[in-house]
Amino acid sequence: MSRGAAEELARIAEAAVAARGRFDLVLAGGGTPRRLYQILSAEYSKRIDWSKTHLFWGDERYVSTNDPTSNYRMAREALIDPLSQGGLLPPRGIDPANIHPMPTAAADPDQAARAYEQILRQQFGGAAPRFDLVLLGIGPEGHTASLFPGSSALAERERWVVAVRVAAQPPQRLTLTLPSLNGAENIFFLAEGEKKREIVSKLLSLKPGEETKYPAAQMQPRGRLLLFLDQAALGDRAGQTFRPD
Ligand code: 6PG
Repeated sequence: MSRGAAEELARIAEAAVAARGRFDLVLAGGGTPRRLYQILSAEYSKRIDWSKTHLFWGDERYVSTNDPTSNYRMAREALIDPLSQGGLLPPRGIDPANIHPMPTAAADPDQAARAYEQILRQQFGGAAPRFDLVLLGIGPEGHTASLFPGSSALAERERWVVAVRVAAQPPQRLTLTLPSLNGAENIFFLAEGEKKREIVSKLLSLKPGEETKYPAAQMQPRGRLLLFLDQAALGDRAGQTFRPD
């Protein structure tokens, strides 16, 4: 699963840099993407032009960047630090100015969400974000980023980033909203393990246009939506092909 995602991510990165001179990548949090980030830092240090890569986050727990639950900390440990420790330093490595973590130091999470939206405005020239690739995980009840079933944030159509309180730990989060997520060219879902089999099966059984309470099912990028699964998450559907709609 992680290797498949790394290879496809590299292709998107190469195309984005060739076309626009930069690669705008949104990182997912949680545990699943860690292996992908390790593979990218170890085996794609030359294949991807990290000097032209901008890193954003799809959501963040409202904790210190040193907190063990911080999505930024996980990416720093699995991707950012290993790239520079592997000798990939500026100007060939990631420019620290191109690493855009969601701010979590302000007392007021809503202000932090607005501050991140300003960062997105700066990076995308005031227009709505057009990420080349958004990486997302899937929760067992169908949440993605920090958009949970029934959340009022799912109805947000103006703001690109909001503060939410969720039924998971830690509860205070910042998350991109549907307008900023679905403005992306590509979205990858990453799901592995037995625990994700049921939600993956439910998502794959949805008919096009079918009403659904699953936030993950509301991801509709401009280009491709790819699902990267391991056998445990795919279950007995292994070998089936899925219509690319
Ligand atoms: C987060 C993530 C969240 C995650 C899913 C899956 O901040 O927790 O953004 O959406 O991707 O909960 O988490 P695992 O990969 O740990 O199963």
